[in-house]
Amino acid sequence: MNILVINGPNLNMLGIREPGIYGKETYEDLLRYLTDCAEELGCEIDIYQSNHEGDLVDKIQEAYFAGVEGIVINPAAYTHTSVAILDALKAVAIPAVEVHLSDVDVREDFRKLSYTAMACVKTYKGLGFEGYRKAMEYLCGNQR
Ligand code: DQA
Repeated sequence: MNILVINGPNLNMLGIREPGIYGKETYEDLLRYLTDCAEELGCEIDIYQSNHEGDLVDKIQEAYFAGVEGIVINPAAYTHTSVAILDALKAVAIPAVEVHLSDVDVREDFRKLSYTAMACVKTYKGLGFEGYRKAMEYLCGNQR
């Protein structure tokens, strides 16, 4: 199984941005965590982060041509605004799982709507890094 993990805007600022909400662990810590999870699950992983909506769309399209079998995506703020990312996920029809570090349902009202989740088979929210592991397990078919 080969999985593409996509992180949207400001997730490269983990550890610096709003630690009360997103924790003190850095983006580099997340990269290590994801790599370790992939090794444990025996899947191949490509990890991508961008602050730009079009780059995220491009990466999703590229995944189709690269034969990616599963997408784990934290679209960050674009979750709540991006029809373009929703359409890209629909276009490639690769099974996708959405992840949010924080519980978006108990924050501001505008975070309750997710456009991108409409193209995802599952969403994990409020579990911190663990949400990414659960998403990868789900895609690998050995959900705990
Ligand atoms: C987030 C939640 C979003 O609402 C926010 O814009 C983010 C991060 C999360 O992981 O909790 O940037 O996706």
